[in-house]
Amino acid sequence: MSDRDRLDAGACQDPLLDASGLVAGYGATEVLHGVSLCAGEGEVVSLVGRNGAGKTTTLRSIVGTVTPTAGRVTFAGEDVTDLSAEKTVRRNVAFVPEERRIFPGLTVLENLRVGQLGGGETTQRRDPEEILAEFENLRDHPDRRGGALSGGEQQMLAIARALVAGADLLLLDEPTEGLAPFIVRQVEELVRGLNDDGISVLLVEQNVEVALELADRHYVLDRGEIVYHGTSEQLRNDEDVMDRHLGVTTN
Ligand SMILES: Nc1ncnc2c1ncn2[C@@H]1O[C@H](COP(=O)(O)OP(=O)(O)OP(=O)(O)O)[C@@H](O)[C@H]1O
Ligand SMILES: [Mg+2]
Repeated sequence: MSDRDRLDAGACQDPLLDASGLVAGYGATEVLHGVSLCAGEGEVVSLVGRNGAGKTTTLRSIVGTVTPTAGRVTFAGEDVTDLSAEKTVRRNVAFVPEERRIFPGLTVLENLRVGQLGGGETTQRRDPEEILAEFENLRDHPDRRGGALSGGEQQMLAIARALVAGADLLLLDEPTEGLAPFIVRQVEELVRGLNDDGISVLLVEQNVEVALELADRHYVLDRGEIVYHGTSEQLRNDEDVMDRHLGVTTN
């Protein structure tokens, strides 16, 4: 298959999320030069690429904290390109940013209650206590302050909070960054479990192994362009892409 065919194969039928031709940047600097990707209902899709490739900028353009100068974003068929981040989040899209942004001074349970403020009119908000029960690492200390949690627990709290608002699509920005390997496994299990419950995920990762483990399909971003699209098996076996765009040497 040529690279072009692979990119075409990246088109989804009836996508939950469809981003096409996104051009975006900061001030006069263009970072994304026409990024297209989609995620179907129930899918886990990854966006991988090196430092500075534009992964976070892609997520920001999807949720609307960065306004694309060209391109279109639809969610469940509805054009959300010009909606503010707040309104996009109210369309059942939850964004867990790199910085995690939990409230360090609030307890675990209070952090989850804040999450209930998100979501749209049609969202099925979920009970914070019910969500908490699903999170092994958090459920035993609902009264612990966010700031006293480990990095892994904070990541899980950030994901749990996104879920309280009743998200259909979770955008995760490097959820395993800086975590010890055994915590990485726990985050993987968590994401897998959420997906089993029907939540679609767009996973940004620099850790290609985690992406290969979790996602069905992968988009590779390099300098603001999608340079490859394929299944886990295709990507794993493509030494050239792994080496050239991801800096992973396979042998
Ligand atoms: N708020 C900002 N203002 C100006 N430039 C920015 C801003 N955020 C990112 N950039 C620049 O945009 C480019 C893409 O950054 P982005 O954060 O999207 O990459 P990334 O793929 O998420 O990288 P990383 O793996 O380091 O998180 C980089 O050159 C970065 O310096
Ligand atoms: Mg980033």
